[in-house]
Amino acid sequence: MTDGSHAALPVQWKSLVAAARDARSNAYAPYSEFTVGAAVLTKAGDIFSGCNVENASYGLTICAERAAACAAIATGQQDIVAVCISLTGTPIPCGTCRQFLYEFNPSMTVLIDDLNAGTEAAPETVLLSNLLPRGFRLER
Ligand code: THU
Repeated sequence: MTDGSHAALPVQWKSLVAAARDARSNAYAPYSEFTVGAAVLTKAGDIFSGCNVENASYGLTICAERAAACAAIATGQQDIVAVCISLTGTPIPCGTCRQFLYEFNPSMTVLIDDLNAGTEAAPETVLLSNLLPRGFRLER
C-alpha cells in the first residue's frame, strides 16, 4: 500500500510525518535502542506527538503511539483522524496500541513511516480497522 513519494503527500500528512520524525529523535529507549516517534492529527487540524519512553522496570514502557494520543486527549481533542508512526522496520503499531487508538476512531488512517525506505518514500497507509478487525468497544 505504499504509494509514491513523500513529496506527493497532502501537506497536512507531510506535517504529520515531520512531527513523528521529530518526536522520534527524543525517544528514550536505552534498553531496546529501538526508537519510535508518533504523531496524531485531530479533526480540528492540530498535530500532537509522542515518543517511546522506556523504564528500567521494562513493563512500564510507554509506546510512542499512546504518548501521542494522550497528548491530544490532554488538550481536549479526542477526534483523531490519522496517526503517523516513524521507525525503522515494521510491523507496527503493537497490539496494545491498536486497541488504545481504536477507542478514539476505528477508521483512522495509520501512516507507517519506515525510515529503512528512506526519508523520501511515502509512508504505507492503512486503516486502523484493517489492522485491528473487531476491536473492542463499549457502547455508551
Ligand atoms: N514500541 C512503540 O513505541 N510502539 C509500538 O507500537 C511497538 C513498540 C516501543 C516500545 C519499546 O520502547 C520499543 O519500541 C521496543 O519494543
